[in-house]
Amino acid sequence: MPKYVAIREIVEDKVPVGALELAGWIRTHRQSKRVSFIELSDGTSVSNLQLVVDPQLPGYADVAPKLATGTSIKVSGELVVSPAKGQKYEFQVKALELLGEADPESYPLQKKGHTLEFLRENLHLRPRTATMGAVLRVRSAAAFAVHRYFTERGFYYLNTPIIGTSDCEGAGEMFRVSTFDPENPPRVNGKIDFSQDFFKEPASLTVSGQLEGEICAMGLSKIYTFGPTFRAENSNTTRHLAEFWMIEPEMAFYELADNIDLAQDFVQDVMRQVLKSSASELEFLASQEWVEPGHLENLHKVSESTFSCMDYTDAIKVLESSGKTFEYPVSWGIDLQSEHERFLTDEYVKGPVTVVNYPKDIKAFYMRLNEDGKTVRAMDVLVPRLGEIIGGSQREERYDVLLEKIRAMGLDEQSYWWYLELRKFGTVPHAGFGLGFERLLMYMTGMQNIRDVMPFPRFPGFAKF
Ligand code: 4AD
Ligand code: MG
Repeated sequence: MPKYVAIREIVEDKVPVGALELAGWIRTHRQSKRVSFIELSDGTSVSNLQLVVDPQLPGYADVAPKLATGTSIKVSGELVVSPAKGQKYEFQVKALELLGEADPESYPLQKKGHTLEFLRENLHLRPRTATMGAVLRVRSAAAFAVHRYFTERGFYYLNTPIIGTSDCEGAGEMFRVSTFDPENPPRVNGKIDFSQDFFKEPASLTVSGQLEGEICAMGLSKIYTFGPTFRAENSNTTRHLAEFWMIEPEMAFYELADNIDLAQDFVQDVMRQVLKSSASELEFLASQEWVEPGHLENLHKVSESTFSCMDYTDAIKVLESSGKTFEYPVSWGIDLQSEHERFLTDEYVKGPVTVVNYPKDIKAFYMRLNEDGKTVRAMDVLVPRLGEIIGGSQREERYDVLLEKIRAMGLDEQSYWWYLELRKFGTVPHAGFGLGFERLLMYMTGMQNIRDVMPFPRFPGFAKF
């Protein structure tokens, strides 16, 4: 393995001063007669390392004109405590090798700042920017925090299928998976004959691993999934992706109240872990112009204080008596729109809020029916600025009630036979939820567009790179 030291290790005082080797990309190169300075980044830290080069260094004069922004180099030399203000260490170069040039005439990422829109069209270079580097490191730290949270609490990490033949959310927003020739699929009586397709029936990319998660929880008690999910909804918003990552815990013997507690504890624990492990990244991101002042302090506060919880019915009352005119009129039975969610979080509660017991008609078939016959044991966790980051529920564990629900919603009961059998044999109360990983990342990083927290976002009209 190469023995290059990561700049992060240096910045975090984990490397003693002395001889070592570094490799990375040049941020800036300033030359003068007596001394040259190179700001080097290797993508491991928000800080660059200052390299100090004696212009007399053998070979330097030849390569110096090529050491432009974006050029990759490796160097060996001496890490020393810096005499200069504003940096702890600097690096005195003893040997420098140019790895790859980046012609200043054509390299798109010059020193000046770039708009996030511009970077979205250059996803192949985006990870080299300070902002995206920080976001991607937070993303990695958050994924680790998720695994750590559940593993330490006796949950098993399981992988549910990406290709499937049932629609968990029943919303019909699925991407087809087929090996048919799109120009000429086999037909019988004019209809496409899926029995000749790869899976012998219509198949799609999953919208959620929940149903299979329930199967596993009915055997292992507490499980979680963490995988990609796909939605073919034509939502060109700053909060929707066609491919996003979801964390879905599913717990046998949990009821709605337990589910609410777990969701809050989970979000807060992950927040606290990331606030600690990615402190420098979050601080850097919070200082960007698009982030509201006080963002970091607020995250710390949220990670420590109890989330509000309110019934859907009370939320509707609050909205109705708010004196606000909403674009989408409020009345009992409506699905909360993002303007409603934002009123609740940003103006009413001024923090996260869990809304529970939604009307059954606006929620998925699998949610447990309440005694009132009108509402289900659903829970959505809403946060300021974004609205929903978690959707979950206690599941309907009663065979007859579930069958009735499936029929009433016009779903094909045949295709849910196995889901129904879970209720026939050893059924237990159970519950779970799904956290949109990118929504959590937006919340923490302060990024305003979900496309900027996903390395390779997919959305209507875009699946490049
Ligand atoms: O509320 P949703 O649709 O719930 C489910 O899929 C359940 N099966 C989860 C469960 O109970 N196991 O989605 C869950 C979360 C949302 O709260 C949101 O954070 C995120 O997934 N999400 C999206 N994130 C990005 N782009 C999209 N198009 C999203 N749709 C949902
Ligand atoms: Mg939802």
